[in-house]
Amino acid sequence: MKTKIAPSILSADFSNLAQQIRQAEKGGADWVHLDIMDGHFVPNITFGPMVIRAVRSVTELFLDTHLMIEAPDRYLEAFRESGCDRLTVHLEGNVHVHRTIHRIKELGMRAGIALNPSTPAMLLKDVIADVDLVLVMTVNPGFGAQKFIPSMLRKVEEICAMIAAVNPKIYLEVDGGVDEGTAPLLVKAGANVLVAGNSIFARKNIPQAVRTLRRAVSS
Ligand code: DX5
Ligand code: ZN
Repeated sequence: MKTKIAPSILSADFSNLAQQIRQAEKGGADWVHLDIMDGHFVPNITFGPMVIRAVRSVTELFLDTHLMIEAPDRYLEAFRESGCDRLTVHLEGNVHVHRTIHRIKELGMRAGIALNPSTPAMLLKDVIADVDLVLVMTVNPGFGAQKFIPSMLRKVEEICAMIAAVNPKIYLEVDGGVDEGTAPLLVKAGANVLVAGNSIFARKNIPQAVRTLRRAVSS
């Protein structure tokens, strides 16, 4: 499976969001990664369906939405209406995650499951077959430009083996501290979707940044 690049707009210049997204698209981005934060599940607040509607209006790219919010079930319809293609919810703090995943799919979206760094891979066992993507956080969620957590490489390998045993079509996405240095290690461990915020949008030449990341995992 060809590695996909999903720039996270968390690090984009929001005063120029349409142009930033177009730049990432020009560089060959496959998806747009949207980090939704509510200030409760994580100690930061970002944006919601209103901004996603604006993003939807400027790009045809797949909108890969990462919900770092409490009680995501309250907002599934609103995120669907705003144009999301996938909703990824966290295993943590979601007692009925099986029900949430099936509700997301009933609404016609893809469903993903995300794990924070301290959550063991084994907890995916009874839900992995129901999702089309597993998101392994390689930083503690909440902010861009954080330091990559190297011990997550072993967890990516473990989840790669779980995916191979259940359904090789399930994407293995990694998120946090992904750049041209860490990306090759993550792809070698089994990741095939790279979320990158700072290593793309904090660079002057955004299209070049996307190409650099792609080249780092193509050799
Ligand atoms: C953390 C966010 C970030 C963002 C990417 O909650 O999910 O990981 O997507 O951040 P960086 O800037 O590390 O690529
Ligand atoms: Zn994310």
